[in-house]
Amino acid sequence: MGPRPAIEVEDLTAGYHGMAVLRGLSITAHFGAVTALLGANGAGKTTPLLTIAGFVRPMAGRVLVMGQPIERRAPHELVRMGLSLVPEGRGLVYELTVSENLRLHTRRGAKPLVGDVLDLFPALRQLASRRAGLLSGGEQQMLALACAIVSGGRVLLIDEMSHGLAPVVVERLLPTVRAVAQERDLAVVLVEQQVDAALRVADFVYVLNRGQVALAGTAQEIGGRTDVVEASYLGVTEPGR
Ligand SMILES: Nc1ncnc2c1ncn2[C@@H]1O[C@H](COP(=O)(O)OP(=O)(O)OP(=O)(O)O)[C@@H](O)[C@H]1O
Ligand SMILES: [Mg+2]
Repeated sequence: MGPRPAIEVEDLTAGYHGMAVLRGLSITAHFGAVTALLGANGAGKTTPLLTIAGFVRPMAGRVLVMGQPIERRAPHELVRMGLSLVPEGRGLVYELTVSENLRLHTRRGAKPLVGDVLDLFPALRQLASRRAGLLSGGEQQMLALACAIVSGGRVLLIDEMSHGLAPVVVERLLPTVRAVAQERDLAVVLVEQQVDAALRVADFVYVLNRGQVALAGTAQEIGGRTDVVEASYLGVTEPGR
């Protein structure tokens, strides 16, 4: 048996107010692996995450989560199926403490428990009683990841984890993401603008340009084609090249 796909996006057209921003997008993400979506601002990285999570409805094509088509499933049903979205902006309740945020996300009976997750992020343990709004950006990002993990999600959709973080913090967090994917056999879909950081942590990479896949391959393959990656960031490649 080959690797199991957690997410299959097939020929997806989706957008906002009837206007397509994704046009014929196909991506696959496997369990135990980190799949990165790269691309310039507005390339269409967040929109696939929102579609997979049930917030944006496909206009054409289909999305399978663990083999199940998601049509007509509400976001909360997808959460119950094991999807966990870490949105840009982190999605924390800033008035609550670190441990209250974690408890809010803990699925009853779900493993891993809060203690296990705090072992992954020892810095958070010391901050357990601090309000989330008073954490640094990096600490908030750790908490957002920890919340996604305690939610018992099998598929983590992480949008722009590095946003606003110092490179040294990103360098510390990304290996944790990879370790979590491998050790817990989770599928991680990581949207990133920092190409180098993403290539170091990802197994498979899609470079998006204007709502289409401009380039796809293993991190190693894509790492050898940074000329094409850069061109698509500047918006000068023809998608599909
Ligand atoms: N709620 C919305 N309503 C209308 N258009 C939108 C909406 N959200 C995004 N778009 C448009 O869809 C396109 C793709 O947006 P998307 O957010 O997926 O890009 P992105 O690659 O995540 O960008 P960024 O790096 O800036 O976060 C853009 O042209 C954007 O302007
Ligand atoms: Mg985005």
